[in-house]
Amino acid sequence: MTETYSESLYSKDVKFYCYDTINSTNRYALDNINEFNDFSIISADTQSSGRGRFDRNWKSDKNGNIYASIVLKDLPEYNEESPIATITQYMAVTVKNVLREYIKNISIKWPNDILVNNKKICGILSSAVFSKNRLDAVVIGFGINITNTKEDLESIEKPATSLLIEYNKIVDKKEILQKISKLFFKNLDLFLDKGFSIIKDEYLASSSTIDTNVTVHTPQGSVSGFAESIDDKGILTIIDNEENKIKINTGDVVW
Ligand code: BTN
Repeated sequence: MTETYSESLYSKDVKFYCYDTINSTNRYALDNINEFNDFSIISADTQSSGRGRFDRNWKSDKNGNIYASIVLKDLPEYNEESPIATITQYMAVTVKNVLREYIKNISIKWPNDILVNNKKICGILSSAVFSKNRLDAVVIGFGINITNTKEDLESIEKPATSLLIEYNKIVDKKEILQKISKLFFKNLDLFLDKGFSIIKDEYLASSSTIDTNVTVHTPQGSVSGFAESIDDKGILTIIDNEENKIKINTGDVVW
């Protein structure tokens, strides 16, 4: 480990664990969940086995990028209605607001990709830890491209970008991580109390998915149609070509 430090953020004792290289900050947090207290933030300079949604590879070999995971414990009970079910969207709004200080044209592709001019700059992946049907912890991982050049990103299948490409300057990842942590903990209690409804307007205003024609890959198959709405639980409604309303709670919008 390179460094650990603590900080009080909105009366929460937040502990930062900074590693040089680990397999994946999410994996590491999950494998050692009993070692980490509520409000721990695990970050790494690089990851040897970074993972994205649907177990995709997350390119993690570049120094200066953010590869980090926040551990939350002591949470309200989990069910589909509970605020924690949309914690990734809360994280997406948080990251979007911080990156907006540097770049315009940021949007959120449902459910939680951050795009700049339709190129991905940040991905978010959350995992829940249950024991005996009780929610023990949630690990919210986020990867932000900060220092990648166009060449670095060529090997990524989908359009990707970085803060360097969009802002033309190298920004210290610590500065970004600090801003994200602050904003995250500032509004966390309110979010855990009220849920998606407190970010819904902002989420919709930043959405690149809503009011467009999309194809969504879901575990049950692909759905194409018009993305009509996102409800208070973060569920996307698509109107397909036969005018059926299809509700989707997990999936991947093709772009
Ligand atoms: C996605 O868009 O598919 C989600 C990408 C999440 C990547 C981050 S990087 C830090 C944390 N550790 C991982 O292995 N994945 C997440």
